[in-house]
Amino acid sequence: KSEKVWLTISFGMIMLFMIATGYQAFALGMAPPGGVELIDPQKVNETAPFDQPGIKQIGDNEYEVVMTLQLFSFTPMELEVPAGATVHFKLTSKDVVHGFQIVGTNANGMIVPGYITDITQTFHEPGEYLVICNEYCGIGHQVMATTIKVY
Ligand code: CUA
Repeated sequence: KSEKVWLTISFGMIMLFMIATGYQAFALGMAPPGGVELIDPQKVNETAPFDQPGIKQIGDNEYEVVMTLQLFSFTPMELEVPAGATVHFKLTSKDVVHGFQIVGTNANGMIVPGYITDITQTFHEPGEYLVICNEYCGIGHQVMATTIKVY
């Protein structure tokens, strides 16, 4: 009889362990890097700061950009900052999973509806930086891009 008890206990332990690791993997898989803040994807337009997407100077050559991603564009389009500017991007998606990659830099993130992703990038060199969506999001994925002008 005691064998049966031990068998039940060890089976129970294995189940608990599996549930714990499964849950952990699930939780980690759902949270995109850098994005821990939550937002209702249905109410992005009414939720600060995304009710006013745009660029704002917050320090000496330091800017905050509040940006939404949606099929198949970035809002706002066409940003301009001076060389040397550090830009803090606050990003969210209004619909599906998009990507945010500034070509030629390390700035790269997954933009998941329901989450706010923070990405910071300093633009040392003047030029035109291409921003692309690097997560397949539908028929217009290839044309989902914008530019950041650094003067
Ligand atoms: Cu948005 Cu691909």
